[in-house]
Amino acid sequence: MPKISQKGQHMPASPIRKLTPFAEKAKQEGKKVYHLNIGQPDIETPEGMLNAVKNIDFKVWAYTASEGTSSYRKKLTEYYNKLNYNIAPENIIVTTGGSEAITIAMSTCLNPGDEVIIPEPFYANYNGFACQSDVVVKPILSFIENGFALPAISDFEKLITDKTKAIIICNPNNPTGYLYSKTEMEALKELVLKYDLYLFADEAYREFCYDGREFTSPMHLSGLEENVIVMDTVSKRYSACGARLGCLITKNKEVLVAALKFAQARLSPGMIEQIAGEAAVDTPDAYFETVNVEYTHRRDVLVNALNQMDGVFCPNPGGAFYVVARLPIDNADKFCQWMLESFSYENQTVMMAPATGFYSTPGAGQNEVRMAYVLNQTDLKSAMTCLQEALKVYPGKTESKTTIASLQS
Ligand SMILES: Cc1ncc(COP(=O)(O)O)c(C=O)c1O
Repeated sequence: MPKISQKGQHMPASPIRKLTPFAEKAKQEGKKVYHLNIGQPDIETPEGMLNAVKNIDFKVWAYTASEGTSSYRKKLTEYYNKLNYNIAPENIIVTTGGSEAITIAMSTCLNPGDEVIIPEPFYANYNGFACQSDVVVKPILSFIENGFALPAISDFEKLITDKTKAIIICNPNNPTGYLYSKTEMEALKELVLKYDLYLFADEAYREFCYDGREFTSPMHLSGLEENVIVMDTVSKRYSACGARLGCLITKNKEVLVAALKFAQARLSPGMIEQIAGEAAVDTPDAYFETVNVEYTHRRDVLVNALNQMDGVFCPNPGGAFYVVARLPIDNADKFCQWMLESFSYENQTVMMAPATGFYSTPGAGQNEVRMAYVLNQTDLKSAMTCLQEALKVYPGKTESKTTIASLQS
């Protein structure tokens, strides 16, 4: 029998989905499962975007230009320039989801064996994308104690070798919800300029900033024009994960020329998706205001409930719709599986993502879980009651206060 590739063997499975069979079994047994494990929002997609799809009228479902249709890129430029990105349509390559923007950015900028530094915990699929591009991920720990703020620049510098080529940040962050401040972004700017690195900025959650906090993109910082590649998506912004529409933005002309060749090799992004994406840019501000208020309430429900539980600690994040919480448990993987397999409260249970899957430092995240607050407030409250009851009876409950910081000493 022929053997699959080494990449195929080493490609990591998604930590977000690996407990799905246990959730399915729990459902077959009649349990209600609250899904806090995955960032699939329940918020309705903007009407204008849906109507654009309903009103579609064409005779040939054709390829579009590899870089995206000119009308969509023009409209997107309007959107980004309202945010002061100061770009032209030529700076955008439309992709099949933010995922493809990340793979194209890696393929374009990085050689096999090159190293990328990523603050961890980080979006787990970066591991998969790095595996596809033969790139080595160098994690740099951030800490729950300070809400997962940007690690010290001196810690980044300790990891820099002659193979280091890029830093990836996700802002606001998935999985931690941390929103990087302008000062942190300025510090990153100095670092990438000093070592001549790319700065890949994953801005999937740009719209989700709370408590009046301000979002800073590296596109707002002058002097980084050759270094920055923004990777974006409509998935979360418009609650349109199934649209599979994203884009890559850069002012670096050499990157644009090479990235276009990767885009040409896969021919084209979807045509209908771009029509929908174009309509989405006209989504009224009121939509985002309502969504933001809702997510702020949900975050408050979740974070308050968690911090009232014995031995639980959860920072209050400034953005996205995730939290990472520390629980008094021996092993997050075991606990999350146990919740589905062996526990129910009033015939309900909760599915969470063990945080271990978001770290690559061995042993990190053992007593942490990631939760997405993508359910309505009533369901979130029920999920929290379930979790509280579960922690009372979980056989692997621990009083020890193991922290990630202690792993470093
Ligand atoms: C941080 C981050 N980047 C990228 C993506 C991929 O988004 P898309 O659905 O556009 O491929 C996700 C999806 O959850 C994400 O959380």
